[in-house]
Amino acid sequence: MKLEGKVAIVTGAGGAGVGGLGVVYARALAAEGAAVVVSDIDGEAANRTAADIAASGAQAIGVRCDVADEYDIEAMVQAATDAFGGVDILVNNAGLARGKWSDALPLSKDEWLEILAVNTVAPIMCAKACAASMRSRGGGVVVNQSSNGALMDAGAYTVSKLALNGVTRVLADEFADDNIRVNGIAPGMMTAKLPEQQVQTLLARQTVRRQGQPEDLVGLLLFLCSEESSFMNGQTVVIDGGMARSPKN
Ligand SMILES: NC(=O)c1ccc[n+]([C@@H]2O[C@H](COP(=O)([O-])OP(=O)(O)OC[C@H]3O[C@@H](n4cnc5c(N)ncnc54)[C@H](O)[C@@H]3O)[C@@H](O)[C@H]2O)c1
Repeated sequence: MKLEGKVAIVTGAGGAGVGGLGVVYARALAAEGAAVVVSDIDGEAANRTAADIAASGAQAIGVRCDVADEYDIEAMVQAATDAFGGVDILVNNAGLARGKWSDALPLSKDEWLEILAVNTVAPIMCAKACAASMRSRGGGVVVNQSSNGALMDAGAYTVSKLALNGVTRVLADEFADDNIRVNGIAPGMMTAKLPEQQVQTLLARQTVRRQGQPEDLVGLLLFLCSEESSFMNGQTVVIDGGMARSPKN
Protein backbone atom coordinates (compact mmCIF):
# COMPACT_ATOMS: atom_id res chain seq x y z
CA MET A 1 0.00 0.00 0.00
CA LYS A 2 1.96 2.98 -1.33
CA LEU A 3 -0.47 5.63 -0.10
CA GLU A 4 -1.55 4.38 3.33
CA GLY A 5 -2.59 7.34 5.52
CA LYS A 6 -2.71 9.80 2.61
CA VAL A 7 -5.74 11.84 1.60
CA ALA A 8 -6.39 12.41 -2.11
CA ILE A 9 -8.81 14.65 -3.99
CA VAL A 10 -9.66 13.72 -7.58
CA THR A 11 -11.68 16.30 -9.53
CA GLY A 12 -14.09 15.29 -12.30
CA ALA A 13 -14.16 11.80 -10.83
CA GLY A 14 -17.90 11.15 -10.80
CA GLY A 15 -17.89 9.24 -14.07
CA ALA A 16 -20.59 11.42 -15.64
CA GLY A 17 -18.74 11.62 -18.98
CA VAL A 18 -17.73 8.93 -21.47
CA GLY A 19 -14.01 8.69 -20.69
CA GLY A 20 -14.24 8.01 -16.97
CA LEU A 21 -10.53 8.47 -16.26
CA GLY A 22 -11.22 10.17 -12.91
CA VAL A 23 -13.18 7.16 -11.65
CA VAL A 24 -10.29 4.84 -12.49
CA TYR A 25 -7.87 7.23 -10.77
CA ALA A 26 -10.02 7.48 -7.62
CA ARG A 27 -10.36 3.67 -7.41
CA ALA A 28 -6.61 3.17 -7.92
CA LEU A 29 -5.67 5.67 -5.20
CA ALA A 30 -8.13 4.05 -2.79
CA ALA A 31 -6.76 0.59 -3.60
CA GLU A 32 -3.30 1.87 -2.56
CA GLY A 33 -4.67 2.91 0.83
CA ALA A 34 -5.53 6.60 0.30
CA ALA A 35 -8.74 8.10 1.65
CA VAL A 36 -10.34 9.61 -1.45
CA VAL A 37 -12.50 12.66 -2.05
CA VAL A 38 -14.43 11.99 -5.26
CA SER A 39 -15.26 15.42 -6.60
CA ASP A 40 -17.42 16.28 -9.62
CA ILE A 41 -19.71 19.03 -10.90
CA ASP A 42 -22.34 16.28 -10.93
CA GLY A 43 -22.80 15.70 -7.20
CA GLU A 44 -24.92 12.57 -7.60
CA ALA A 45 -22.32 10.96 -9.83
CA ALA A 46 -19.63 11.86 -7.27
CA ASN A 47 -21.65 10.28 -4.46
CA ARG A 48 -22.32 7.13 -6.51
CA THR A 49 -18.62 6.63 -7.31
CA ALA A 50 -17.62 7.32 -3.69
CA ALA A 51 -20.20 4.82 -2.41
CA ASP A 52 -18.86 2.25 -4.86
CA ILE A 53 -15.31 2.74 -3.58
CA ALA A 54 -16.43 2.70 0.06
CA ALA A 55 -18.28 -0.57 -0.58
CA SER A 56 -14.91 -2.14 -1.39
CA GLY A 57 -13.74 -1.30 2.15
CA ALA A 58 -11.78 1.90 1.32
CA GLN A 59 -12.45 5.38 2.67
CA ALA A 60 -14.22 7.71 0.23
CA ILE A 61 -16.66 10.62 0.18
CA GLY A 62 -18.40 12.33 -2.72
CA VAL A 63 -18.41 16.13 -3.08
CA ARG A 64 -20.15 18.33 -5.63
CA CYS A 65 -17.62 20.84 -6.97
CA ASP A 66 -17.52 22.95 -10.13
CA VAL A 67 -13.77 23.52 -10.46
CA ALA A 68 -14.45 26.83 -12.21
CA ASP A 69 -16.03 28.13 -8.97
CA GLU A 70 -13.68 29.24 -6.19
CA TYR A 71 -16.33 28.84 -3.46
CA ASP A 72 -16.95 25.24 -4.56
CA ILE A 73 -13.19 24.62 -4.45
CA GLU A 74 -12.93 25.97 -0.88
CA ALA A 75 -15.88 23.80 0.17
CA MET A 76 -14.24 20.74 -1.44
CA VAL A 77 -11.02 21.25 0.52
CA GLN A 78 -13.03 21.86 3.70
CA ALA A 79 -14.95 18.61 3.11
CA ALA A 80 -11.63 16.74 2.77
CA THR A 81 -10.41 18.28 6.02
CA ASP A 82 -13.66 17.56 7.89
CA ALA A 83 -13.78 13.94 6.71
CA PHE A 84 -10.10 12.94 6.68
CA GLY A 85 -8.09 15.72 8.40
CA GLY A 86 -6.50 17.42 5.36
CA VAL A 87 -5.15 16.89 1.84
CA ASP A 88 -1.90 15.27 0.64
CA ILE A 89 -2.65 14.57 -3.02
CA LEU A 90 -4.60 16.60 -5.58
CA VAL A 91 -5.40 15.12 -8.98
CA ASN A 92 -6.66 17.88 -11.30
CA ASN A 93 -8.54 15.60 -13.67
CA ALA A 94 -11.71 17.57 -14.54
CA GLY A 95 -11.54 18.82 -18.09
CA LEU A 96 -13.62 19.84 -21.09
CA ALA A 97 -12.71 17.65 -24.04
CA ARG A 98 -13.94 16.55 -27.45
CA GLY A 99 -16.65 18.09 -29.65
CA LYS A 100 -16.56 21.80 -30.24
CA TRP A 101 -13.43 22.28 -28.13
CA SER A 102 -11.37 20.72 -30.95
CA ASP A 103 -11.82 23.95 -32.96
CA ALA A 104 -10.40 27.41 -32.29
CA LEU A 105 -11.90 30.04 -34.62
CA PRO A 106 -15.60 29.07 -34.32
CA LEU A 107 -15.51 29.55 -30.53
CA SER A 108 -16.83 32.75 -28.97
CA LYS A 109 -14.87 34.66 -26.34
CA ASP A 110 -17.14 33.22 -23.62
CA GLU A 111 -16.46 29.68 -24.87
CA TRP A 112 -12.71 30.36 -24.81
CA LEU A 113 -12.97 31.63 -21.26
CA GLU A 114 -15.04 28.57 -20.32
CA ILE A 115 -12.51 26.00 -21.53
CA LEU A 116 -9.56 27.92 -20.13
CA ALA A 117 -11.37 28.30 -16.78
CA VAL A 118 -11.84 24.53 -16.42
CA ASN A 119 -8.77 23.07 -18.16
CA THR A 120 -6.10 25.64 -17.31
CA VAL A 121 -7.05 28.01 -14.47
CA ALA A 122 -8.97 25.58 -12.22
CA PRO A 123 -5.90 23.38 -11.57
CA ILE A 124 -4.09 26.49 -10.25
CA MET A 125 -7.02 27.46 -8.01
CA CYS A 126 -7.44 23.90 -6.68
CA ALA A 127 -3.71 23.63 -5.94
CA LYS A 128 -3.76 27.02 -4.23
CA ALA A 129 -6.73 25.95 -2.08
CA CYS A 130 -4.99 22.70 -1.03
CA ALA A 131 -1.58 24.27 -0.37
CA ALA A 132 -2.08 25.33 3.28
CA SER A 133 -3.24 21.85 4.26
CA MET A 134 -0.41 20.18 2.32
CA ARG A 135 2.16 22.49 3.94
CA SER A 136 0.83 21.72 7.42
CA ARG A 137 1.27 17.99 6.65
CA GLY A 138 4.88 18.40 5.50
CA GLY A 139 4.24 18.60 1.76
CA GLY A 140 2.10 17.17 -0.99
CA VAL A 141 1.65 16.12 -4.58
CA VAL A 142 -0.32 17.68 -7.43
CA VAL A 143 -0.98 15.76 -10.65
CA ASN A 144 -2.40 17.71 -13.59
CA GLN A 145 -4.28 15.79 -16.24
CA SER A 146 -3.02 17.12 -19.55
CA SER A 147 -3.38 15.40 -22.95
CA ASN A 148 -1.24 14.41 -25.92
CA GLY A 149 -3.56 16.91 -27.64
CA ALA A 150 -1.21 19.53 -26.17
CA LEU A 151 1.38 18.34 -28.70
CA MET A 152 -0.94 18.15 -31.71
CA ASP A 153 -3.52 20.42 -33.35
CA ALA A 154 -6.91 20.20 -31.67
CA GLY A 155 -8.15 23.78 -31.41
CA ALA A 156 -8.95 25.31 -28.03
CA TYR A 157 -8.32 21.95 -26.37
CA THR A 158 -4.68 22.03 -27.52
CA VAL A 159 -4.25 25.59 -26.29
CA SER A 160 -5.77 24.81 -22.88
CA LYS A 161 -3.69 21.67 -22.31
CA LEU A 162 -0.42 23.16 -23.61
CA ALA A 163 -0.98 26.02 -21.18
CA LEU A 164 -1.67 23.45 -18.45
CA ASN A 165 1.78 21.95 -19.08
CA GLY A 166 3.10 25.45 -18.38
CA VAL A 167 1.03 25.60 -15.20
CA THR A 168 2.68 22.34 -14.09
CA ARG A 169 6.12 23.89 -14.58
CA VAL A 170 5.46 27.18 -12.83
CA LEU A 171 3.60 25.64 -9.89
CA ALA A 172 6.45 23.16 -9.36
CA ASP A 173 8.73 26.18 -9.14
CA GLU A 174 6.50 28.30 -6.89
CA PHE A 175 5.78 25.41 -4.47
CA ALA A 176 9.43 24.34 -4.27
CA ASP A 177 9.92 25.58 -0.70
CA ASP A 178 6.71 23.87 0.45
CA ASN A 179 7.76 20.35 -0.55
CA ILE A 180 4.75 20.22 -2.90
CA ARG A 181 5.65 18.51 -6.17
CA VAL A 182 3.65 19.12 -9.35
CA ASN A 183 3.74 16.80 -12.36
CA GLY A 184 1.41 15.99 -15.24
CA ILE A 185 0.05 13.06 -17.23
CA ALA A 186 -0.67 13.52 -20.94
CA PRO A 187 -2.77 10.57 -22.13
CA GLY A 188 -3.69 9.73 -25.70
CA MET A 189 -7.09 8.30 -26.60
CA MET A 190 -8.00 6.04 -23.68
CA THR A 191 -11.30 4.34 -24.26
CA ALA A 192 -12.66 1.04 -25.45
CA LYS A 193 -15.96 2.59 -26.55
CA LEU A 194 -15.05 3.73 -30.08
CA PRO A 195 -16.62 2.65 -33.39
CA GLU A 196 -14.45 0.10 -35.26
CA GLN A 197 -13.51 2.51 -38.08
CA GLN A 198 -12.27 5.09 -35.57
CA VAL A 199 -10.29 2.38 -33.77
CA GLN A 200 -8.47 1.49 -37.00
CA THR A 201 -7.66 5.16 -37.72
CA LEU A 202 -6.35 5.49 -34.19
CA LEU A 203 -4.18 2.40 -34.37
CA ALA A 204 -2.65 3.62 -37.62
CA ARG A 205 -1.63 6.84 -35.83
CA GLN A 206 -0.05 5.03 -32.87
CA THR A 207 3.21 3.11 -32.83
CA VAL A 208 1.77 0.72 -30.22
CA ARG A 209 -0.87 -1.25 -32.12
CA ARG A 210 -3.53 -1.60 -29.48
CA GLN A 211 -6.13 0.66 -27.94
CA GLY A 212 -5.26 2.51 -24.77
CA GLN A 213 -7.34 1.76 -21.68
CA PRO A 214 -7.77 4.04 -18.63
CA GLU A 215 -5.93 1.37 -16.62
CA ASP A 216 -2.79 2.03 -18.73
CA LEU A 217 -2.45 5.33 -16.83
CA VAL A 218 -2.66 3.91 -13.33
CA GLY A 219 1.00 2.89 -12.95
CA LEU A 220 2.14 6.41 -13.85
CA LEU A 221 -0.46 8.04 -11.59
CA LEU A 222 0.63 5.97 -8.57
CA PHE A 223 4.29 6.63 -9.34
CA LEU A 224 3.69 10.40 -9.47
CA CYS A 225 1.60 10.33 -6.26
CA SER A 226 4.11 8.29 -4.26
CA GLU A 227 7.60 8.78 -2.88
CA GLU A 228 8.95 6.70 -5.80
CA SER A 229 8.88 9.89 -7.90
CA SER A 230 10.29 12.12 -5.13
CA PHE A 231 13.11 13.43 -7.38
CA MET A 232 10.74 14.40 -10.20
CA ASN A 233 9.07 17.79 -10.50
CA GLY A 234 7.47 20.05 -13.14
CA GLN A 235 7.27 17.30 -15.80
CA THR A 236 4.37 16.19 -17.98
CA VAL A 237 4.68 12.58 -19.15
CA VAL A 238 3.04 11.55 -22.42
CA ILE A 239 1.43 8.11 -22.36
CA ASP A 240 -0.36 7.61 -25.68
CA GLY A 241 0.82 4.48 -27.49
CA GLY A 242 3.37 6.62 -29.30
CA MET A 243 0.76 8.74 -31.09
CA ALA A 244 2.23 12.19 -30.53
CA ARG A 245 5.71 10.94 -31.51
CA SER A 246 4.54 9.11 -34.61
CA PRO A 247 5.78 10.67 -37.86
CA LYS A 248 2.21 10.38 -39.17
CA ASN A 249 0.95 13.05 -36.72
N1 LIG B 1 -10.48 10.09 -22.14
C1 LIG B 1 -9.39 10.33 -22.85
O1 LIG B 1 -9.08 9.59 -23.79
C2 LIG B 1 -8.49 11.50 -22.48
C3 LIG B 1 -7.31 11.66 -23.19
C4 LIG B 1 -6.45 12.71 -22.85
C5 LIG B 1 -6.77 13.55 -21.81
N2 LIG B 1 -7.95 13.38 -21.15
C6 LIG B 1 -8.23 14.29 -20.05
O2 LIG B 1 -8.57 13.53 -18.90
C7 LIG B 1 -9.57 14.20 -18.13
C8 LIG B 1 -10.76 13.30 -17.96
O3 LIG B 1 -11.19 12.90 -19.23
P1 LIG B 1 -12.43 11.93 -19.43
O4 LIG B 1 -12.42 11.51 -20.85
O5 LIG B 1 -12.47 10.91 -18.36
O6 LIG B 1 -13.59 12.99 -19.23
P2 LIG B 1 -15.14 12.76 -19.10
O7 LIG B 1 -15.79 13.77 -19.96
O8 LIG B 1 -15.50 11.31 -19.26
O9 LIG B 1 -15.37 13.11 -17.57
C9 LIG B 1 -15.11 14.37 -17.07
C10 LIG B 1 -15.76 14.49 -15.72
O10 LIG B 1 -15.53 15.83 -15.30
C11 LIG B 1 -16.74 16.39 -14.84
N3 LIG B 1 -16.71 17.83 -15.07
C12 LIG B 1 -16.93 18.51 -16.21
N4 LIG B 1 -16.84 19.83 -15.99
C13 LIG B 1 -16.52 19.98 -14.68
C14 LIG B 1 -16.29 21.09 -13.85
N5 LIG B 1 -16.40 22.35 -14.32
N6 LIG B 1 -15.99 20.88 -12.55
C15 LIG B 1 -15.91 19.61 -12.06
N7 LIG B 1 -16.14 18.51 -12.80
C16 LIG B 1 -16.43 18.70 -14.09
C17 LIG B 1 -17.84 15.68 -15.61
O11 LIG B 1 -19.08 15.71 -14.89
C18 LIG B 1 -17.27 14.26 -15.74
O12 LIG B 1 -17.64 13.43 -14.66
C19 LIG B 1 -9.84 15.51 -18.88
O13 LIG B 1 -9.06 16.53 -18.33
C20 LIG B 1 -9.42 15.21 -20.30
O14 LIG B 1 -9.07 16.36 -21.02
C21 LIG B 1 -8.81 12.37 -21.47
